[in-house]
Amino acid sequence: MNIQQKVNGVWGSRWVFILAATGSAVGLGNIWKFPYITGENGGGAFVLVYLACIALIGVPIMIAEVMLGRRGRMSPINSMLLLARESNTSRWWGSVGWLGSLAGILILSFYSVIAGWALQYMSLSASGEFYQISGEASGATFSGLLADVESLVTWHTVFMALTLLIVMAGVVKGLGKAISVIMPLLLVLLLVMLGYSIAEGNFAEGWNFLFAFDASKLEWNSVLVALGHAFFTLSLGMGAIMAYGSYMPEEKVSIGNTVIIIAMLDTLIALIAGLVIFPIVFANPSIEPGAGPGLLFVSLPIAFGNMAGGQLFGFMFFALVALAALSSAISIIEPTVAWLVESRIASRIKATLGLGFTIWFVGLGTVLSFNHWADYTLFDKTFFDSLDYLTANIMLPLGGLLMALFVGWFMNTKAIVEELGPIDQGGYKYWLRILRYVSPVLLAIVFVMSLIG
Ligand code: PHE
Repeated sequence: MNIQQKVNGVWGSRWVFILAATGSAVGLGNIWKFPYITGENGGGAFVLVYLACIALIGVPIMIAEVMLGRRGRMSPINSMLLLARESNTSRWWGSVGWLGSLAGILILSFYSVIAGWALQYMSLSASGEFYQISGEASGATFSGLLADVESLVTWHTVFMALTLLIVMAGVVKGLGKAISVIMPLLLVLLLVMLGYSIAEGNFAEGWNFLFAFDASKLEWNSVLVALGHAFFTLSLGMGAIMAYGSYMPEEKVSIGNTVIIIAMLDTLIALIAGLVIFPIVFANPSIEPGAGPGLLFVSLPIAFGNMAGGQLFGFMFFALVALAALSSAISIIEPTVAWLVESRIASRIKATLGLGFTIWFVGLGTVLSFNHWADYTLFDKTFFDSLDYLTANIMLPLGGLLMALFVGWFMNTKAIVEELGPIDQGGYKYWLRILRYVSPVLLAIVFVMSLIG
């Protein structure tokens, strides 16, 4: 065990890593964001581009990021500095870690507000608020929530507090156990909901919307959104996966296979969420597929309000969404906490509290962007929209691009082989080529094209 692992811990086994990384990947991105951006970007063609981005860019970069962590064995900032030195190249690569920390602060600030909606919807479900609710009434309930600053702040505060408590206790303790309960339950409940959508929703139309390819609906900006979401949903490009990789035990496991398992689970959960939500949307004319961030919260209460046991299912479902969000939130803040602790700037408790307060404060901007600040926009985007766009579509892909370039072109080959095994045979042969040529070029094309429209 080296210094970092003594300071910040190490996973009990390979499985704890898989669970923790899956816990990081599966979150609001899959259940809340994927359906609503799919709705906003016209459906099938967007989904196809998203799947291609996962396979051609996400998976190769995720392998690179886990490897960087396991090799560096420190927080992302220090790992990048260390590996740059080991590879005799510039200290500037440390900026990958800095960029990631900044992205993490911005992401968690709005992530926590949205997770707060899920907390509030737990209590609304349990209290029977959704009993036989209509599409219109469900829309009104959600708008009411957005206008209610006090509730938004309260639930945002509760969610941040839960996140900080877990991070203060250290990532290893408890986390692995929690995830191994949350993930299977979430999947089961999603399948229950899928049963409801097949039986009661407009399943054929929902299916078509998700999977019918209509290229005419695709603009360059949608391609950028799909690409950005591939990073967001896999927790890539900001060091979350790198930090988790640095806690991997010494036992040699195939990073490639591990990453493929995580990416497939993540994609599966997003697609099921889409198949649950869109049939309900199409069965209720008052809800638009492009309704935006409220899509999940407007559509699902209708299902819960009309199914047997809906009060309990609704409560459980939103509880699971909140838990899935929690297991992602801790991975968003962990890289920076790890860096503060390891650099002896602060103890774990002080680091977590200080950082947590900063993030909570920035989150107030997102809260206000749904009401008092709703009319203050920049390029037609509210504060929340801007943060979401800046982080998912620019900062994460940029971080990922830098990681791909570093591993593909600058990192010491001997170090790569020591982590992954021979890279001139099997899947890794393609991996290195994709990482060198395909991923960076695709990323560059999407960036440039969406800039010039
Ligand atoms: N992947 C998480 C989700 O889908 C969000 C996340 C983004 C987590 C970036 C860590 C880093 O909800």
